Amino acid sequence: MELLGFLKGSRRFRKPRPNDIEHRFSQGEILVSKTNTRGIITYANEKFIALSGYSQKELLGQPHNLTRHPKMPRIIFKLLWKELKAGQEINAYVVNLAKDGGYYWVFANVTPSFDVTGNIIGFHSTRRRPNRKGLAAIRPLYELLRKHEIVGGIDASEIILHSFLKEKGLDYDEFIFNIQHS
Ligand SMILES: Cc1cc2nc3c(=O)[nH]c(=O)nc-3n(C[C@H](O)[C@H](O)[C@H](O)COP(=O)(O)O)c2cc1C
Repeated sequence: MELLGFLKGSRRFRKPRPNDIEHRFSQGEILVSKTNTRGIITYANEKFIALSGYSQKELLGQPHNLTRHPKMPRIIFKLLWKELKAGQEINAYVVNLAKDGGYYWVFANVTPSFDVTGNIIGFHSTRRRPNRKGLAAIRPLYELLRKHEIVGGIDASEIILHSFLKEKGLDYDEFIFNIQHS
């Protein structure tokens, strides 16, 4: 399998070791990436390239989990893919891992793209600077979700997330939208 990948010219990156260096970006800057239906990166704008630390060549053709930070709960990505595959857009707070091991938080709006007959042909993520107050609400929630995930798997974190949101009377997307605009 590895040999096949090599022959096809695909590149696999060793995941960087996470460190505590935060990469921030300005309000007004927008980080964009696009994927095919399988989450393979097909486009990245200059801002996203710069913050990720990878070159355009390194990003294109790679699965988007290249930028996945181990602090991100898996349940959030499960939710993201469920919405996208149902043809819905989703707002999410995401912490990403940069090539140098640093991290950057984003407020992402991820949308499906359709062809003329309504088939999903890919996905598009537009990331803006997250609200610091929103981050203060998200960090402890994600830490709790990860803790439960490590012990009890994704089913355990799903229960925690559902009860957290039920108490607020919101779904995840509404909660994220509210904290971003609070
Ligand atoms: C358009 C689009 C953008 C995405 N952007 C990110 C991202 O910035 N960071 C990230 O960790 N995952 C992102 N994902 C989700 C990844 O595809 C993947 O599901 C996630 O990293 C979890 O990977 P894993 O299931 O292999 O653990 C994006 C997916 C799509 C469709």
